Amino acid sequence: MPLTDKFGRGIHDLRISITDRCNYRCVYCRTGTNGAAYAELPFDDYLRMARILVGLGITKIRLTGGEPLLRKGVVEFVRELAKLRTTTNEKPDIAMTTNGHLLAEVAQPLKDAGLDRVTVSMDAVDPDRFARITRVPNGFDSVLAGVRASRRAGLEPVKVNCVLLRGFNEDQIIPFGKFAREEAVVVRFIEFMPLEEDRVWTPEIVVTLDEIVKRMSEYKPLVEIEHQRSETARRYLFEDGVGEIGIIAPVSHPFCGHCSRIRITSDGKLRTCLFSVWDHDLHELMRRGASDEKLSEFIVKVVEKKEERHHIGEPGFVPASRTMVHIGG
Ligand code: GTP
Ligand code: 5AD
Ligand code: SF4
Repeated sequence: MPLTDKFGRGIHDLRISITDRCNYRCVYCRTGTNGAAYAELPFDDYLRMARILVGLGITKIRLTGGEPLLRKGVVEFVRELAKLRTTTNEKPDIAMTTNGHLLAEVAQPLKDAGLDRVTVSMDAVDPDRFARITRVPNGFDSVLAGVRASRRAGLEPVKVNCVLLRGFNEDQIIPFGKFAREEAVVVRFIEFMPLEEDRVWTPEIVVTLDEIVKRMSEYKPLVEIEHQRSETARRYLFEDGVGEIGIIAPVSHPFCGHCSRIRITSDGKLRTCLFSVWDHDLHELMRRGASDEKLSEFIVKVVEKKEERHHIGEPGFVPASRTMVHIGG
């Protein structure tokens, strides 16, 4: 019996944040002035958690951060994860979400170690705009090299995530459409969610799915194609079949009803929703010497109580107990 919550949702996707450090300070994420305390566990601890969770029915593992490539030993960690076997005796699908800055050199070693796919966060295709968003000079060329190296290494489909902010990068929609076609990557636009360090989110900043489709169609018409129910993104192809666009619209079109995700934070807490107002301290249990059976029981109970949905934009909205840089998306 796979992990299931009380709403009957099967949980098969695990996201592990392996560090909360980041080498970028994106304007919509690292808005705080106080640097985060570094909280990282040894890889063996994440590996034990992943092994237990895969034994409970997880089939897909995504590594996130902070910036996961800042961790030394990440290639070896992927190699160990790739040795795990799902309940149907298959290798789990292993993916990574990275800002791409350090990706060019490790794309091939990551692939060789067993990484299946990579998603690169990239909020502009114009180098100056990119620098203004990430607040790091000259990052664009490194990230582009990372995207291309990932394609060469076969970490496909390479996805590029762009968080759109009104008045900041919404003019990048059509350039990203061209980018998707020219670079043969899936470009996914994400509606901005209230998960930043300071409170800058307003409903007006969000560029919605409908707007994105409309704007892109002025360049070339999009045709929606089928997506899996638990997938975050709605999928579109340009009419001529060249270039895929995804839109992740948690604000205007929430997808909580089919959510299949749980998360482990870099300090080893289990989170059942991006917007959870509390964490569940799996690592503390491990530290106190709990057996695999005890840890499994704990996980099963926690997952049972997974939140039904988020409440973004509703009057009683309570912010999550952690910000995105600590959760990992
Ligand atoms: P694949 O389907 O494997 O490509 O991955 P993904 O879409 O789950 O991964 P990715 O890290 O690219 O996620 C894209 C973005 O979607 C995240 O950064 C979040 O902004 C958003 N997202 C992912 N999971 C959730 C979720 O459970 N709830 C909400 N509200 N947003 C999510
Ligand atoms: N809303 C939506 N997406 C966000 N990301 C970071 N912060 C937010 C937010 N507040 C995205 C990053 C990255 C992924 C992990 O989450 O750009 O692609
Ligand atoms: Fe799942 Fe929570 Fe995201 Fe909704 S907001 S999709 S319940 S993680």
